[in-house]
Amino acid sequence: MQSQAVQAADAAAGKDLALQWCSSCHLVSEDQATASSVSLPSFYDIAKDPGWTEEKLATFLADPHPIMPSMNLGNIEIANLAAYIGSLAP
Ligand code: HEC
Repeated sequence: MQSQAVQAADAAAGKDLALQWCSSCHLVSEDQATASSVSLPSFYDIAKDPGWTEEKLATFLADPHPIMPSMNLGNIEIANLAAYIGSLAP
């Protein structure tokens, strides 16, 4: 919907998405004790890495790494996730 597409990205909604879609593999928030693999970058690591800008995250998530399940995230979900991860930066 056009009106939704122009809304600012919502980090809180992004957190919900991360818990739902990403937390089986990645450590996505401080509410989460464990993820399947400690060797995967947590969302804190990603947020701290200056190489991962919100733009780069959005591009990455629009075409996920093959090892990640096909998630069919919409543009709004992607923007919200990128905003959430960005919000974890120290
Ligand atoms: C089924 C497990 C799985 C799920 C679910 C998953 N990921 Fe991943 N993700 C991986 C793996 C494995 C890698 C490492 C890929 C590699 O580097 O080869 C990765 C890498 C990444 C990277 C790149 C990190 C880096 O430094 O290279 C980002 C960003 C990322 N995932 C974000 C997400 C987001 C956002 C979600 C939820 C929408 C998500 N992932 C869901 C398994 C998963």
